[in-house]
Amino acid sequence: MSMDASQEATAGVIAEKKTGLAAIARQIAGCTDCGLCRGRNRTVPGEGNPDARIMFIGEGPGFYEDQQGRPFVGAAGKFLDELLAGIGLDRKKVFIGNVVKCRPPNNRDPQPDEIEACGKYLDAQLATIAPKVIVTLGRFSMQRYFPGESVSRIHGTPRRKGEMIVVPMYHPAAALHQGSLRRVIEADFARLPGFLEKVLEGETPVVDRAEVPPHLKKGTAATTPAETAPATTDATPAAAESQQMRLL
Ligand code: URA
Repeated sequence: MSMDASQEATAGVIAEKKTGLAAIARQIAGCTDCGLCRGRNRTVPGEGNPDARIMFIGEGPGFYEDQQGRPFVGAAGKFLDELLAGIGLDRKKVFIGNVVKCRPPNNRDPQPDEIEACGKYLDAQLATIAPKVIVTLGRFSMQRYFPGESVSRIHGTPRRKGEMIVVPMYHPAAALHQGSLRRVIEADFARLPGFLEKVLEGETPVVDRAEVPPHLKKGTAATTPAETAPATTDATPAAAESQQMRLL
């Protein structure tokens, strides 16, 4: 079946985005702008749908990512894949990137100068993909948008940043270290399809102060699973699957 004019235009945009991301990945591959280049085996530019409506931003590559040149392929990545599957998505439908594209030695935290040096690549990826929703995974990507905030206080709460909605989340690895966080992250993920739906309808799913769930209100102690809002019903696999077709 031949494409109509609008399908052709969409295919052209996607092809352009793909080419743009490949050019950014080549720049990253040759980058020596910070000390992380000295210890890397592979750069990890990120991967996924060039036309994704939702982009996940983690921290930086670990051991397996550095070996394979792909983001989130270790234990945290396995959990991320499960979280995505839980809302009817897989990684090919979204884009997954990191704040830094080279592995920090011994998986230490990325340093401010490294994050700064790598920021131009993330900016370029964001400008190319133009996602509607950004999900930050962990504090380093959260700090890019909400400096001085803490993940335990604002996780799961969408906020508008320019043209995009940013939803801060715990890093999936946090649940591997602290089992009680697993249900918190799952509950936050379960609300994502609803946020996306609102964004695509032109609404801003920003939670007003009055609507902030009690466990997220300022000055409240970090969330415990018992305090976490239950998953919304639209996160059931069947509902999520039909949403997936529309959303991504
Ligand atoms: N943790 C991250 O933040 N990013 C990866 O790519 C892998 C683990």
